[in-house]
Amino acid sequence: MNTTLLQEAKDFIISCYKELNKTQDEINERIDAITKQIESTGSYEHTSFEIDYGAKVAWRNSNRCIGRLFWDQMHTFDKRELKTEEEIFEAILEHMSYATNGGRIRPSITVFAPQTENHGIRIWNHQLIRYAGYTTPDGIIGDPASISFTEKCIELGWKPKYGKFDILPIVIQINDHEPKLFELPEDTALEVDIRHPEYEWFEDLQLKWHGVPFISDMALEIGGIRYTAAPFNGWYMGTEIGARNLADEGRYNMLPQIASLMDLDTKSSISLWKDKALVELNIAVLYSFREDGVSIVDHHTAAQQFKKFEEKESEIGRPVTGNWAWLIPPMSPATTHIFHKPYKNDIVKPNYFYQPRAY
Ligand code: ARG
Repeated sequence: MNTTLLQEAKDFIISCYKELNKTQDEINERIDAITKQIESTGSYEHTSFEIDYGAKVAWRNSNRCIGRLFWDQMHTFDKRELKTEEEIFEAILEHMSYATNGGRIRPSITVFAPQTENHGIRIWNHQLIRYAGYTTPDGIIGDPASISFTEKCIELGWKPKYGKFDILPIVIQINDHEPKLFELPEDTALEVDIRHPEYEWFEDLQLKWHGVPFISDMALEIGGIRYTAAPFNGWYMGTEIGARNLADEGRYNMLPQIASLMDLDTKSSISLWKDKALVELNIAVLYSFREDGVSIVDHHTAAQQFKKFEEKESEIGRPVTGNWAWLIPPMSPATTHIFHKPYKNDIVKPNYFYQPRAY
């Protein structure tokens, strides 16, 4: 008898059913059924609403996420019945199209079959949409964060294109089978060309980013059950793109070029050329998404929304946990309330967890 699993299941059922105003009888009945299922099979199956609620609460418990005000507005696709890599890929496309919604992004999650003793599904990609990164004799092309995954894809037969923004294929593995590669059909990934409201030269940099972040390598854990393939998405906060993906030295490293196009003195750091370039890059990201009608939030608004989340939770009497170092935005952090208070980084389940790389 797996007593840890049963205990985790009980903890989840009790808190979930209570939040959903179910009766003590319903709780007892469900726990009896789960106990029997664990006794006879070694595990148990969630109902669809348990998955849906578990996925939402896992978001609510995500200490690094500033966007948690919207935790109960996530759409869940329960796809546990899918067996083949092809079916899983089709479900991924369905998720991407529903979530992208022509730019009016809908937070969504697709939950595939959980890890069991003899069955496991993994999506190898970090995100469903990411740009390839290549090391070449003339230096790195594309996103340096994707280099090792890109190499894997090439090993598996993907044709490298050596562009700055090549969308990587989806790699799906079931059990210890050879992973299967799927190219995203043209137009699946909504992308935004980055331009600036005043600097016309900005578009010559030919920067773009994908509209939707779909995290695909984390495990969703609910009541002791691990969903190792459960891709989910929200919408972007501008700084994720403008202050990290396009700005980090270890990513697209665009600040020196932008600063020099702005005619800033890049010889001396006291000109604050990095800061000035950073602001303009972030203005460009927010402006371009907004103009294309693609959902995005600036970090000041996101912090306000997080404050509202904190207030709502404390009204209900639920302590808010958080990881300060992740919650503060990477630009002007001290202009948000988050910077000025501590957060308890306690891990509460259900939650999303990192898992060992699949490759
Ligand atoms: N920071 C990651 C990226 O830049 C995305 C993480 C999830 N972000 C979100 N807004 N849900 O791609």
